[in-house]
Amino acid sequence: MRILFTGGSGKAGKYAISHLISKGHRVLNVDQIPLNIDGVDNRIADITDAGQIYDAMTSYAGFDELEPGSGMPKFDAVVHFAAIARILITSDNECYRVNTMGTYNVIDAAIRNGVRKVIFASSETAYGICFADGERKPDYIPIDEDHPTIPEDSYAMSKVVNEVTARSFQQRSGIDIYGLRINQVIEPHEYEEMFPAFMSNPSLRRRNFFAYIDARDLAQMVEKCLETDGLGYEVFNVSNDNTSVSIPNTEIISQFYQGVEVRKNLSDNETFFSNAKAKSMVGFMPQHDWRTHLKA
Ligand SMILES: NC(=O)c1ccc[n+]([C@@H]2O[C@H](COP(=O)([O-])OP(=O)(O)OC[C@H]3O[C@@H](n4cnc5c(N)ncnc54)[C@H](O)[C@@H]3O)[C@@H](O)[C@H]2O)c1
Repeated sequence: MRILFTGGSGKAGKYAISHLISKGHRVLNVDQIPLNIDGVDNRIADITDAGQIYDAMTSYAGFDELEPGSGMPKFDAVVHFAAIARILITSDNECYRVNTMGTYNVIDAAIRNGVRKVIFASSETAYGICFADGERKPDYIPIDEDHPTIPEDSYAMSKVVNEVTARSFQQRSGIDIYGLRINQVIEPHEYEEMFPAFMSNPSLRRRNFFAYIDARDLAQMVEKCLETDGLGYEVFNVSNDNTSVSIPNTEIISQFYQGVEVRKNLSDNETFFSNAKAKSMVGFMPQHDWRTHLKA
């Protein structure tokens, strides 16, 4: 496939782009900074500028695409990851502006230029727990995609708005648009750096539902979404199968989820951030369990 990928120079995007290139796809990375890996084409553009995004969407990916003389080829899919990726980086209103207008521009330009598949990064924060003021508990566990999304902060608000924007664009166009409610992304080197602290202090993971997503498994989820057609509009939680802490779930429930409805009996370390929908609808199969990694 010929894929336009926004935000590919970031933490998550660079793994997804490497994976897609390794599978033979052509990728144009649209970001404000280039990604220096073999095989990726870069375009410097700002997603909040509709003109720049329209230009990228109707552009040659590289000089070689001038050769056939048949004009600019179309993109088969768009993967949209570019964003201000959390609160407390920019002002709250700037985060909201960039994320919401950027997403509007990217999906609008994709549809107007004939793209039939858009995958966009939403977030676990949509459920309102991650950046809540003080401790907030989920309505029920495990958290699935039907859980209410009523956050308090500008970043998560922007992600909820983006889901509404995407749903409306899908309604009018009939194309496939899949949103990924991504849990905290962990790169391979971060297991050694971060996980020992999670073992001695599990409360560090409370705001992430004690879950995580390996950056390589997120890349696999993107690939699975590209391969699965015809779902219309869907959102998917994206997490690994297991929790990111060493205490069993009975202990997590008694320490952190007192009074929360438990809708499914979970095994000892099974994730509270349900990935069942992603597994059943697109065949997601996470492979990188932190326990195996740290043992190795
Ligand atoms: N990292 C996580 O734990 C996590 C969790 C849930 C959701 N997400 C979402 O996944 C996506 C990727 O996250 P990440 O961790 O790789 O973020 P990141 O900050 O590492 O990367 C984001 C990329 O977007 C680019 N960008 C920002 N503003 C832009 C603009 N106006 N125009 C063009 N490019 C712009 C940045 O240059 C950067 O390369 C984001 O949408 C983020 O909100 C991330």
